Amino acid sequence: MKIKNSHNEWGSISIAIHWVVAITVFGLFGLGLYMVELDYYDSMYKTAPFVHKSVGVLLFLLMIFRVCWRLVSAPPQPLSSHKAWEKKLAHWVHIALYGLLLVLMLSGYLISTADGRAVSVFGWFDVPSLISGIDNQEDIAGEVHEILAYVLLSIVALHAAGALKHHFIDNDQTLLRMIGVGKGKATNNK
Ligand code: HEM
Ligand code: HEM
Repeated sequence: MKIKNSHNEWGSISIAIHWVVAITVFGLFGLGLYMVELDYYDSMYKTAPFVHKSVGVLLFLLMIFRVCWRLVSAPPQPLSSHKAWEKKLAHWVHIALYGLLLVLMLSGYLISTADGRAVSVFGWFDVPSLISGIDNQEDIAGEVHEILAYVLLSIVALHAAGALKHHFIDNDQTLLRMIGVGKGKATNNK
């Protein structure tokens, strides 16, 4: 498998990033729901948010790299068997996934820095608090964060359902391509 994407194949870097991001997002969602239920005397009360925020910041850095990599190595063209509405829907779903992830991570940052404290990433480095002291910042950012987490997961469910439909109903190479074992005939509109 090549490192870069080609006209009809995903390269190893894009595939690795896609699945690392997917697993991390599911993990942060589960950890987020778990940690807000903990009470003060639980041994994970401090550790769980520390891990959630640290991994969240690392995910943000990975997403910056992902967008840069996308500019360096353009994604493959959709398969020629995809219908026009499928291409359009997939395009907008992908934009929504990128956009929601960005706003979700920023709202998490705004909850964490509302009181002016920096976010420590596993104690390796600190992300300074640049925006703090807005009225009700912690509550508003917290509401936005919670709602967007559910919206993101709903769009991910739609996205995954699309991938499974291509695989099991259309029997095409869309999912296999993202696992690194499929090629398929791509649309020739370059
Ligand atoms: C949190 C979870 C996920 C996120 C955030 C996510 C995000 C994305 C994004 C943004 C793309 C477009 C990449 C680009 O054009 O730069 C993509 C492609 C893709 N994703 Fe996901 N994904 C997730 C989970 C999944 C799951 C669970 C599956 C399979 C069941 C899946 C299957 C695919 C496939 C097959 C493609 C390639 C589509 C194509 O070649 O047209 N993804 N994903
Ligand atoms: C894809 C990335 C992320 C996902 C899926 C995610 C998901 C969640 C979820 C589901 C909750 C529980 C919400 C609730 O029920 O109230 C939560 C809480 C929280 N998240 Fe995230 N999160 C992400 C990134 C981040 C980042 C980057 C930060 C900070 C740097 C962060 C900071 C927080 C904080 C401080 C809370 C606790 C809010 C409260 O106490 O009400 N999150 N997150």
